[in-house]
Amino acid sequence: MSELKGKIAVITGGNSGIGYSTAKKFKEEGATVIIIGRSKEKVNTAATELGVKGIVADVSSLSAIDNAVNEIKSEFGNIDTLFVNAGVFIPAPVGQITEDMFDNLTNINFKGAVFTIEKFSPILNDGASIINLSSINAYTGMPNTAVYGASKAALNSYTRTAATELAPRKIRVNAVNPGPIATPIFSKTGMSEEQLKGMGEAMQNRIPLKRYGQPEEIAELVTFLASDKASFITGSEYNIDGGVNINPLLVG
Ligand SMILES: NC(=O)c1ccc[n+]([C@@H]2O[C@H](COP(=O)([O-])OP(=O)(O)OC[C@H]3O[C@@H](n4cnc5c(N)ncnc54)[C@H](OP(=O)(O)O)[C@@H]3O)[C@@H](O)[C@H]2O)c1
Repeated sequence: MSELKGKIAVITGGNSGIGYSTAKKFKEEGATVIIIGRSKEKVNTAATELGVKGIVADVSSLSAIDNAVNEIKSEFGNIDTLFVNAGVFIPAPVGQITEDMFDNLTNINFKGAVFTIEKFSPILNDGASIINLSSINAYTGMPNTAVYGASKAALNSYTRTAATELAPRKIRVNAVNPGPIATPIFSKTGMSEEQLKGMGEAMQNRIPLKRYGQPEEIAELVTFLASDKASFITGSEYNIDGGVNINPLLVG
């Protein structure tokens, strides 16, 4: 259990779901872990449970990211792993997309991700690993995800260019595209229990492996990409989705 021994790792959205599970795994693998989240109470609770450093910053605010970077730089110096994971899911059909919803989604999922990397770039060690948490919604055309999916497709495109440009520093940049994963993200949408149940059943029926993924399963892949075992992998995307992208016309 020492894949990340000696590495300093920052995880945005580390107080919940995939970020939380990855923080736990990173720590088990020997990394020094710093989680970032937007809610002071949630960040403090998670940081205490995990035994890691917690920092409060809303990634849609450039000055908040600046403050987080300065705090990390003075306490830890440069970092080796940046898991750009903070994100929100706000479903809406075409025709009912509001400006507020558009701004909120893109400010967190895309602008937040881009400026997290922009601001952390000066304190990334040569050979660092950046992992961007995207989604298979970048590709699926799933109803109600036009803006969410576009924010993730933009992130995947950004990932490829960033990988090219950061390669001279031996910094690797990759994206992970999960399918439906059992985290609190869906209950934060404001959908009723009944709607969530209906959506859950419909999605599970479409997944060849017939279940949601667990955040720990994403943490395994992210840990691999953060480790030196992935030393020749950059500019790549990994679907981790129980087979959703196979998109079978007939499901047995
Ligand atoms: N679950 C899935 O099915 C699924 C599938 C594909 C991709 N993803 C992606 O996976 C990532 C993690 O999501 P999750 O499923 O683990 O959901 P989650 O449990 O809701 O975790 C999201 C994390 O991001 C934080 N966050 C949201 N907005 C933020 C902001 N402006 N500044 C800082 N932190 C912020 C959340 O804070 P709060 O706790 O305060 O809300 C939370 O810690 C997201 O990028 C999501 O789009 C999820």
